[in-house]
Amino acid sequence: IQVSPFDLVVFGGTGDLAARKLLPALFHRDAAGQIPDDARIIGVSRRPLSREAYVDVVRAALDQFVKTADKTPEAVDRFVARIHYLPADASSEAGWGDLASLLNSGSERVRAFYFAVSPDLFAPLSQRIRQFGLVTPESRVVLEKPLGKDGASARAVNDAVAEVFAESQVFRIDHYLGKETVQNLMALRFANRLFEPLWNSTHIDHVQITVAEDIGVGDRSGYYNTSGAMRDMLQNHIMQLLCLTAMEPPDAFEADAVRDEKLKVLKALKRIDDRNAEQMTVRAQYRAGSAGGKPAAGYLDELGEDSKTETFVAIRAEIANWRWAGVPFFLRTGKRLTKRTSEIVVNFRPISHNIFDATAGRVSQNRLILRLQPDEGVTLEVTIKDPGPGGMRLRRIPLDMSFAETFGVANPDAYERLLMDVIRGNQTLFMRSDEVAAAWQWVDPIYAAWANNDQRVHGYAAGTWGPSAAVALIERDGRTWFEDS
Ligand code: BG6
Repeated sequence: IQVSPFDLVVFGGTGDLAARKLLPALFHRDAAGQIPDDARIIGVSRRPLSREAYVDVVRAALDQFVKTADKTPEAVDRFVARIHYLPADASSEAGWGDLASLLNSGSERVRAFYFAVSPDLFAPLSQRIRQFGLVTPESRVVLEKPLGKDGASARAVNDAVAEVFAESQVFRIDHYLGKETVQNLMALRFANRLFEPLWNSTHIDHVQITVAEDIGVGDRSGYYNTSGAMRDMLQNHIMQLLCLTAMEPPDAFEADAVRDEKLKVLKALKRIDDRNAEQMTVRAQYRAGSAGGKPAAGYLDELGEDSKTETFVAIRAEIANWRWAGVPFFLRTGKRLTKRTSEIVVNFRPISHNIFDATAGRVSQNRLILRLQPDEGVTLEVTIKDPGPGGMRLRRIPLDMSFAETFGVANPDAYERLLMDVIRGNQTLFMRSDEVAAAWQWVDPIYAAWANNDQRVHGYAAGTWGPSAAVALIERDGRTWFEDS
């Protein structure tokens, strides 16, 4: 179904995110017929480009990042016909009058401002938008992560944006929420009888959430070194996954109902601070090792200076509420790990009584695995009898659902779904400002503890699953990381 006509203004229009994610996502939605004829995409950046030169930038981005069959010459021409470009930035008034005139020629339509720029610019950009009277009732603003670098700076950004836009107009994007499997987690939990009665500490032993990447920080080290794995991935993506796994059923699949429940999870997280950070957290950096069969440099060598910024973090979290008391949630993420894989693994408790004798073998615990990438899908591991006349031999097998196999189509990129939600005005898959604040409230004391205790930054060889300290973190609890078991 087509969305309403819109103008989408992308600040950071010549940047990496626009090229890699936003423009390809918009292209796919256009090729699918979802974008109305008169919708406009307006790139804005400091660079003094003509419209034609920017169209070349857009074509180059599509060449590099769109490899699918929908990229026909006609589809590309149709898409670039929507493209406009204006040089402007927050530091001066230059260019803003032109932007205002362009937008005013479509003042009735949905108007979305996408801030694909550093968060320091969110406040000044919002002020310019107000100064030039660009906010209409149908306006929205999209804020890319990271939103601040701690609770205080996030609050400052949220407050500055709130002077210009109402909360109902603010879309704080976390692209993990747009991933199919993540939305499927809600379908699985709340559209099936099967799981919800078991979804608690009586039946669940522990949960693991892993977001592993094989890439290093590459040429993003300038940004990354001020951020680290916790700010870049854990405070947002992983904590959002945690919320959706652990939240109570919302009354409706509707923005505030869902976000109210997620907020309760964040607030119920047990505090980790100077007293227990050593036991509950591991921070680490990759050293030289390998990547894709080739030698790979260590983080500090790539950076060219000393740094304590973590490229890996593992945390044993607990949620202090009735449903989850005593159930550990093991969270971990890192760069330059063995492979790119992201998954939520829900480990059920053992059966209460085993009727089989030793010849039947071990009765394995059930596991539900939600794979976010690379191959999105859901696996439920169950124990069955080995086929054949040889008596009762038990074996664990996966009941597998691969989305690509079941539906025969590749999943749309998360940004496709989320950008269309922005135009539709649906905030369900976006973070509310109190959620962001609550996530920082949990993360800030961990950073403080790392600094106060001068907690060790472990090393791990590039291409491995992280430091041995992360293995120890989970094994102390008598559990093992999923890929090891
Ligand atoms: C981004 C992080 O938010 O997510 C990157 O800034 C990371 O460091 C990326 O590589 C991972 O996203 P995805 O969708 O490839 O898992």
